[in-house]
Amino acid sequence: MTVIEYIKDKVLRANREYLEHSPERFDFWEQHIRLVVREALALADEYGADREIVELGALLHDMALLSRVGTRQDHHINGAAIADRLLTEYGYPDDRKKRVLGCVLHHRSSQNAENIEELCVGDADILSHFHNIPMCFNSAFRSSRISTGSVDEWISYFEQEWNDLSERTKVKFRQRYENIMDVLFGALKEDWQSRA
Ligand SMILES: [Fe+2]
Ligand SMILES: [Fe+2]
Repeated sequence: MTVIEYIKDKVLRANREYLEHSPERFDFWEQHIRLVVREALALADEYGADREIVELGALLHDMALLSRVGTRQDHHINGAAIADRLLTEYGYPDDRKKRVLGCVLHHRSSQNAENIEELCVGDADILSHFHNIPMCFNSAFRSSRISTGSVDEWISYFEQEWNDLSERTKVKFRQRYENIMDVLFGALKEDWQSRA
C-alpha cells in the first residue's frame, strides 16, 4: 500500500465516522477534502511542487476537524499531531514527514507558507471554498450565524479568504474572484450604496 493509499483510507474512515455523527449529515470528504486535494495537485503541477507532499498535506490538513479533536481554533496544531502519528505508523521518512506536517500546520493562510508545498495546500483550501459557495453559505448561516441581510459581513468573509491567498495564485484567480463577487454581491452592493 502506498503512503497516499494508507492516508486516504484513514481520512475516509474518519469521514464515515464524522458523517454518522453529523446532525446535518455533512459529508466533509465530498464537500471539502476531495476538492482541496484536486486543487492542490493542480497547483503542485503548475508551481513545480512535490506532488506526494502536497497530496498528503491536502488529505490531512483538516484531520483534527474530521476526527473531532480539539477546537477549530487549534485544528492546525492538533491536525499536525494526528498526521505525525499516522505517518510514523506507516514508516514514512522523517524528513518528508516534517514537510507534510508543515503543510498541515500552516494551512490556515498562505501568508504563513514557508515553502511551495505549504503554499499549494493553503491556496487550495481557499480555492475549494470558492468552488463550493453553497457550502460556505451553509456553514456561515449555521455555524457563524451570519444573517442573510448582512451584506458587509458576507463581503468581508470572502475578502478575508482572498487576502489569505498567495500573491501568485491571486494573479491566476483574480478574474474568477471578481466574477464571483459580482454575481454574489453586485446587485446588493448597488442597492446598499444607493441607500447610503
Ligand atoms: Fe482548516
Ligand atoms: Fe480545509
